[in-house]
Amino acid sequence: MRRAIAWVSWALLCACQDAAHPPTAATADPAKALTCFECHTWHYDQSVNPAHGPVGFGHDCANCHVTDHWAPASGFDHATVWPLTGAHIGPKCSQCHGNFAAKADRACVACHADDYAAAGNPNHVAQGLPKTCESCHTTAAWKPATSVQHQFPITTGKHKLACGKCHEDPSNYKTFTCISSGCHLASKTNQKHSKVNGYNYTSAACLKCHPNGKE
Ligand code: HEC
Ligand code: HEC
Ligand code: HEC
Ligand code: HEC
Ligand code: HEC
Ligand code: HEC
Ligand code: HEC
Repeated sequence: MRRAIAWVSWALLCACQDAAHPPTAATADPAKALTCFECHTWHYDQSVNPAHGPVGFGHDCANCHVTDHWAPASGFDHATVWPLTGAHIGPKCSQCHGNFAAKADRACVACHADDYAAAGNPNHVAQGLPKTCESCHTTAAWKPATSVQHQFPITTGKHKLACGKCHEDPSNYKTFTCISSGCHLASKTNQKHSKVNGYNYTSAACLKCHPNGKE
């Protein structure tokens, strides 16, 4: 009842929303100040897009709203729950939230299973690549796969090269080469290993003895 009276009197009193929402400093007694919900219960209950009660949004309207419009919910800082970065800045809310009926899933694969299934170069399904996309990709773009973790150092020194220099077959990143495109020529490399037992001139052997790209 207190709410209803308060709301009606405010609504009658205030032709404009600025008067409805005086600055806090001007509120004589903060203890008597009404919460957003007390005046806007009706709005909360009647909201359909999304239906706030059923989707479980809280009563603290100011967490998501400013006072001069309901949509978009621009009081809400998305980064506090899940940062929208890279290619996630553009899409409409509904592309991830539908009608907000359920919480959006956080796992990349939940929204990108189709992309995984369609990825041909390399063929993710055939190669059984992990479904933790974030271990190889960022939200910036699928190509290049900038988050791939190598034990072999590829981000510094002489091995800071384009992916294709070592992975000549873009359909299969399990294969790599140390000994083509003019790298580690046979004559020179064989000579350097003339005294090394168990040496042979194959890429797999190089990695086995030099997993960190060093002696
Ligand atoms: C004392 C009652 C009262 C309180 C407290 C109150 N409002 Fe309002 N609000 C109103 C009235 C009255 C209106 C204008 C009539 C309407 O649109 O319902 C209004 C309008 C609005 C609108 C619509 C503006 C528009 O132009 O469409 C939004 C958004 C809003 N309030 C948000 C809030 C938020 C967020 C809070 C808490 C920080 C809040 N209000 C606190 C009474 C209140
Ligand atoms: C967790 C965040 C969150 C909270 C808390 C929240 N809202 Fe919303 N609200 C939203 C989002 C998101 C939308 C959709 C905005 C859009 O369409 O751009 C929305 C939209 C609305 C709309 C328009 C919906 C429609 O059907 O037209 C109203 C009215 C509204 N909110 C009122 C409230 C009131 C009143 C409160 C507090 C009692 C509140 N909201 C609390 C997130 C929130
Ligand atoms: C690229 C996907 C994506 C887009 C686009 C996106 N969101 Fe979200 N949003 C998420 C994810 C993921 C969460 C975290 C869900 C959780 O709480 O686990 C989230 C959380 C939220 C929450 C907290 C409440 C809840 O449902 O968990 C609100 C409110 C919200 N988003 C509103 C919006 C609004 C408004 C827009 C458009 C301006 C938007 N989002 C755009 C993915 C997205
Ligand atoms: C809640 C759903 C959702 C989640 C979770 C999500 N995304 Fe997205 N993502 C989208 C939507 C929607 C788009 C824009 C439409 C599209 O391209 O599919 C997008 C776009 C992208 C794009 C650009 C695609 C292109 O074709 O240019 C990349 C890359 C991407 N996301 C990577 C990721 C990664 C990595 C993760 C996990 C860290 C992730 N996404 C989690 C919904 C999501
Ligand atoms: C072990 C690392 C790895 C994981 C995990 C991974 N990817 Fe990839 N992905 C790659 C590499 C490497 C490429 C090729 C990048 C390039 O060509 O620059 C690629 C390319 C892609 C492409 C482009 C393919 C094409 O045919 O053009 C898509 C789409 C893609 N990944 C989606 C995903 C999704 C979705 C997930 C998670 C469900 C995922 N990837 C997990 C390594 C990975
Ligand atoms: C200097 C050579 C070199 C470069 C440059 C290089 N890689 Fe690799 N890559 C390797 C070697 C060696 C391995 C195996 C050992 C390891 O994981 O460190 C490997 C492993 C991988 C794997 C794991 C394959 C699997 O499933 O076992 C992926 C995916 C991959 N690289 C992607 C990339 C991408 C994407 C780039 C470019 C951003 C790149 N690599 C650049 C040498 C290289
Ligand atoms: C059985 C282990 C083994 C294999 C296989 C092997 N290496 Fe080595 N490599 C060594 C050892 C031990 C040294 C140090 C030799 C020395 O100093 O006399 C060395 C030295 C080197 C050096 C010289 C480093 C410098 O500073 O001069 C390079 C470059 C090198 N290896 C590259 C390769 C390449 C490329 C391959 C594959 C074709 C390869 N290695 C295969 C063990 C191996």
